[in-house]
Amino acid sequence: MPGAKKFMKKSKKNIAVLISGSGTNLQSIIDHIKSGKLKCNLTVVISNKKDAYGLVRAKKAGIPAHFIDHKGLKRKEHEKKIVQILEKHKIDLVVLAGYMRILTPYFVRKYKYKLINIHPALLPSFPGTDGYGDTWRYGSKVGGCTIHFVDEGVDTGPIIIQKTNPIKETDTLESFKKRGLKMEHQALPKAIKLFIEGKLKIVGRKVIVKEQ
Ligand code: GRF
Repeated sequence: MPGAKKFMKKSKKNIAVLISGSGTNLQSIIDHIKSGKLKCNLTVVISNKKDAYGLVRAKKAGIPAHFIDHKGLKRKEHEKKIVQILEKHKIDLVVLAGYMRILTPYFVRKYKYKLINIHPALLPSFPGTDGYGDTWRYGSKVGGCTIHFVDEGVDTGPIIIQKTNPIKETDTLESFKKRGLKMEHQALPKAIKLFIEGKLKIVGRKVIVKEQ
């Protein structure tokens, strides 16, 4: 039957990206989709900061972008507003890319195993808001980034990918961070790709990555 193959083709997954700032990771996802390396629909971008440059990046790419202010709202009320948008867009995966708010169990349970975060340190070392700075100030010899499923703790969920970033004698915090961000920009789309291709299996704390 002509067209049957097309009809049978599994539809692409819808992903949402939550941001609070510059959105260089968001940009990397956009670029990976544009170049065909990542096959999914980046359906919506949501920021809790009005002036987040990531909102501009989303608009430039023609992606619906929303600013959902958290000021004056209880955490759960704010999250409910976000969930409304996510449900409207039938989101299969929520990506936290520099989203600087801790999510409540309400949100985490709703998107259990469909919610990933990128953290700029080698977890479980240096959780929190300043992974690069904390790694640097501790005097570590190696930093890196971690992409993990989000659970109800802070930066504690099962780990999907970690990339190491050795610290050189000649580094400054800035040069260490710059190299680290470049790594993030490759690692996050890779984790998304594994998720959308159904290659991740969670067994307890471990994420098993199926053979390519
Ligand atoms: C990244 O370092 C990410 O790991 C952390 O926040 C930063 C966001 O950067 N969670 P950007 O907004 O993607 O440029």
